[in-house]
Amino acid sequence: MRTSINHIRGKKAKGEPLAMLTCYDYSTARILDDAGIEILLVGDSLGTVMLGYESTIPVTMEEMIHHTKAVVRGTKKAMIVADMPFMTYQVNEEEALYNAARFIQEAGAGAVKIEGGEHIAPVIKRITGAGIPVMAHLGLTPQYIHALGGYRIQGKNVESAVKMYRDALAVEQAGAFALVLETVPTLVATHITNNLKIPTIGIGAGDGCDGQVQVVHDILGSFTDFKPKHARRYANLAESITQAVTAYRDDVASHDFPGDEESFVMDSDVYEEFKRAVS
Ligand code: KIV
Repeated sequence: MRTSINHIRGKKAKGEPLAMLTCYDYSTARILDDAGIEILLVGDSLGTVMLGYESTIPVTMEEMIHHTKAVVRGTKKAMIVADMPFMTYQVNEEEALYNAARFIQEAGAGAVKIEGGEHIAPVIKRITGAGIPVMAHLGLTPQYIHALGGYRIQGKNVESAVKMYRDALAVEQAGAFALVLETVPTLVATHITNNLKIPTIGIGAGDGCDGQVQVVHDILGSFTDFKPKHARRYANLAESITQAVTAYRDDVASHDFPGDEESFVMDSDVYEEFKRAVS
């Protein structure tokens, strides 16, 4: 049985923090699911950490579907939330619904995530009205990076904090079951959290949110282009991988690898017969 929306709501009611991580592939999904991570987000951040794009803007529906299917195959318990990529929900409500339905029907996700506030609320209403759970996303919304003028903290002055507060109420009213708050001052995120019925999930939004989400590559130290301020490194996989592959390269060079335990035997009489057959 996968994590349900009711379970997520219940956690807010009980004051139990939710731990969510991004995930993009089958083998990582198996590890995170077994470790008890209740929500896995197939974020469009895969564009940067998996595909090497400069931003999330070029990510396509086909790429998202491909990775979402892999994560679904690797999990039994986690709720899988698929990020709707840039321009797959902004054009009109019908197209948004069609694309959201693909994530549920074709890829097997349990919910979709959409960036934006009041202006996107009618889209959230249309999608949730068709029975597809929507996670909303406010604050630093990477798909709006050109409009925001860069990756910077959001809601820092009264005007933008008020706008974010109103946006949060609008997406809740439209039917979103949870709200991601990205790179927002702790006081603003906590105030929004305390005034919403739905859980907030923070990334760089302080400890007052109902849960936290991080990009898995950031906490494992496997993406080395940069480390966001809000991420804490729990491992240094880039260093471990470098050590491992360097040792492998050296073992191949010195004929230490492969050894007998990594090789397959053939009976000597069969080998003799083989040699006769090919001579
Ligand atoms: O794409 C993503 O990984 C996200 C999270 C940072 C919330 O949207």
